[in-house]
Amino acid sequence: KRKVILDCDPGHDDAISMILANANETIEIEAVTAVAGNVEVDKTALNARRVCDIIGLDVAVAEGSNRPMVRETQIAESIHGDSGLDGPNLPDVPKTPVHDKHAVDLIIEKVLESNGDITLVPTGPLTNIAMAMVKEPKIVPKIQEIVLMGGGTFGNWTPAAEFNIWVDAEAAKVVYESGVPIAMFGLDVTHQAQATDETIDRFSKVGNDVSEFVVELLRFFKQTYKDVFGFDGAPIHDACTVAYLIDPSIFDTVDVRVDIETKGEFAYGMTCVDLLGVTGQEPNVKFAQGLDQDRFWNLLEEALKSYS
Ligand code: BDR
Ligand code: CA
Repeated sequence: KRKVILDCDPGHDDAISMILANANETIEIEAVTAVAGNVEVDKTALNARRVCDIIGLDVAVAEGSNRPMVRETQIAESIHGDSGLDGPNLPDVPKTPVHDKHAVDLIIEKVLESNGDITLVPTGPLTNIAMAMVKEPKIVPKIQEIVLMGGGTFGNWTPAAEFNIWVDAEAAKVVYESGVPIAMFGLDVTHQAQATDETIDRFSKVGNDVSEFVVELLRFFKQTYKDVFGFDGAPIHDACTVAYLIDPSIFDTVDVRVDIETKGEFAYGMTCVDLLGVTGQEPNVKFAQGLDQDRFWNLLEEALKSYS
């Protein structure tokens, strides 16, 4: 089994990523850690616990960093609503408790105790991961891989920057320069995973509580993507990470050097993806460029069916 820590800011697509991971027998979720991103960390931690309730996932859920390493907190409620998970009915007080450790300390503890076989799966800003690396550098060589959603060769929050990286580019710089192998799912690939009305119809036919939850998430998410970006579908960005862990052959990747812009006037938070190898630097990232859409949606549908 592949051991993972899901470090997330649920978030509609973060929730779907949790659902996909929990359904798959080859993945063992060691912990869910929440970070500020789509909304403040008290809300993302609460949402992570709510999702655990809804999908029957019994795992430690820890609350983490409420602000980026250097800059001020920034949130994306225009996309995810006031709760961070608007749309479905959510349990007010989830049964899943909040873990007594801070997320950064839980990540450190889990990685240090491991045999070097834990993969970190960040689907929000990289604050918790970078803070853990800074606080306890011994974890760095013990992290098997980081499979993250962030960045791309274009932006969605500024013309140059994707939201997760833009929120905490300093943290992203720490992570990208850490030497840990990174598989990166940026907008280039995640925009190929857009849930349309057809996808929603297909999922609603599955007909169980979890699929109904996903349908309600997608209805809300699809509408905000229409309102904010004019898209006809909602990209299920974060679930690409878990889909890759389950079946990497769904994706086309290329090994490249990626550096994070932390000083730019117009390009703060840009991931500079050296597709042509012009820097002459050793690759530090497996950069996902394409995905097989049919197989991606089949994987999600199968995951939803497994909750019946
Ligand atoms: C990323 O930002 C959030 O809105 C999503 O959950 C995803 O992780 C996309 O830019
Ligand atoms: Ca996210």
